[in-house]
Amino acid sequence: MVYQVFLLFVLALSSTHAANVLLIPLPAHSHCLEMVGVANELTKRGHFVFAYVPASFKTHCFDDSDVKVIHFDMTRDQEKTAEDFQTTTAKVIFEGSSVIASGLPLKIHNFCESQCYAAMNAAGGLKKLQSLRIDITLVDAMPMCGCLYYIPRFLKSPFVSVASYISESDSGMPFQTNTVPFILGTYTNNMTFPQRFLNHLTTVGASVMVKVIDVLYPVDITKFKQHVPTADIVDTKLVQESVLFLENSDSVLEYPKATYPNFIRVGGLTTRPIKPLSNDLEQFMSQSKNGVVVVSFGSMLKNAPPDLFQKLLEVFENLNHNVIMAYDKNENYGNVKTVKWLPQNDVLGHPNTVLFVSHCGKNGFFEGFYHGVPIICAPLNGDGYSTAIKVKYHKVGSSVDILNSDANEILKIIKDTLSDASIRKNMKKASAIFHSAPFTPQERAANAIEHVLKFGGDHLKPVSSKMSLIAHTMLDIWFTLFLLTSIILYIFYRLIRGCFTCIFSKQNTTRKKKIE
Ligand SMILES: *[C@@H]1O[C@H](CO)[C@@H](O)[C@H](O)[C@H]1NC(C)=O
Repeated sequence: MVYQVFLLFVLALSSTHAANVLLIPLPAHSHCLEMVGVANELTKRGHFVFAYVPASFKTHCFDDSDVKVIHFDMTRDQEKTAEDFQTTTAKVIFEGSSVIASGLPLKIHNFCESQCYAAMNAAGGLKKLQSLRIDITLVDAMPMCGCLYYIPRFLKSPFVSVASYISESDSGMPFQTNTVPFILGTYTNNMTFPQRFLNHLTTVGASVMVKVIDVLYPVDITKFKQHVPTADIVDTKLVQESVLFLENSDSVLEYPKATYPNFIRVGGLTTRPIKPLSNDLEQFMSQSKNGVVVVSFGSMLKNAPPDLFQKLLEVFENLNHNVIMAYDKNENYGNVKTVKWLPQNDVLGHPNTVLFVSHCGKNGFFEGFYHGVPIICAPLNGDGYSTAIKVKYHKVGSSVDILNSDANEILKIIKDTLSDASIRKNMKKASAIFHSAPFTPQERAANAIEHVLKFGGDHLKPVSSKMSLIAHTMLDIWFTLFLLTSIILYIFYRLIRGCFTCIFSKQNTTRKKKIE
């Protein structure tokens, strides 16, 4: 009987009709991979998934998926904004330009805006999307890219925000700055009072900065009016209407935090069991007696000065291990092999892999973690620095500054990490905890999406998503409390002073009377 009830329950669950899902990732390989992680689970369950990306976005990200790609064209000027963003990022990383002085935040904003204008003005593209009758849209929730949300608004489709970090002011999540360090900061979750104070200021300050940029450089809504007659909501507010927030983060190697039911931590969206390697790679991996070190800096090293590669090569040639490294050419240097295309997840899952050296973008970090491989973070940008801190804090690896350290220093860190048995043990345990979760991150994401497809998301949504930043951070409450305390203290002060003067003056008058 119990079994039959269970079966009915399962049937009822699986009877949700096949939905049409649209992905709108920014044209960045890692962002695209995160979304495809969710998409693969959805297509497995019988849903149809489409992605809307610029034609100039050359990527392997859809290779092993059933996602149907719809392209839109960009003008040369729009493509230039994307290039400008990339060259500025490279300048900040490799030439030490300051983030603020180089205008990087504004360049991200411009980059997003050009994507968005191109996507919304591709008449053929929009018609195609409309004809697909999209049931739900997954939007890249990169800060300052709120403009992308006009696409689901145009399609009259509910939307889900997906990103490796989603800010409290976008999601309505509580600010937990006493235990959750700022994503671009360098604190752990165990902060002293001055650190918590600064952490609070930076977390809230970043939200304010994003809002200020959006106010100073608003998206020109008039450009969309023809497509979206209801385009009157300022784009910064649209993200807050997401039915779900899927954050590529996790509590085992990142930090625990409280979440509302519409905010789901789906850390490890790109992790999956391994697939067989090509013969060439398999041979290189299995012939190494001491194990293999996997090295990948994403697409970062392409823009790096060539002497950085020479320095790294010198380090790796001095190891007793085979080293497989992602770089822009296929080449063999004795024990070091560089490949243009590295099937990162599959080499990390190889039984001979002993270490992962990475810039510690979210996806690489999770893939190392998933396969239980110790990580040395060589952060170059974004959340890489805070991931490096997490890796050290949990003692599952180490971190190294490849830009400013010399070859010997880098070699020492790698050797120390390789010979540290406790690091291996900690990583194996963390990985086992990750694998023991009842659902994979992709399943958690798909479960939540199917849930909102069936029931909508209103019952999951906290009211904070509509609050002002002041109410949301409880600044109004603390300020009122401060004001009340100040008034009460002042009244006390006046009373006591009043009393003293009154007693003293009484004494004086009695004294005077006595003298008289
Ligand atoms: C936090 O750090 C302090 C020292 O800075 C240490 O004494 C304490 O044990 C740490 N707490 C946790 C939970 O790790």
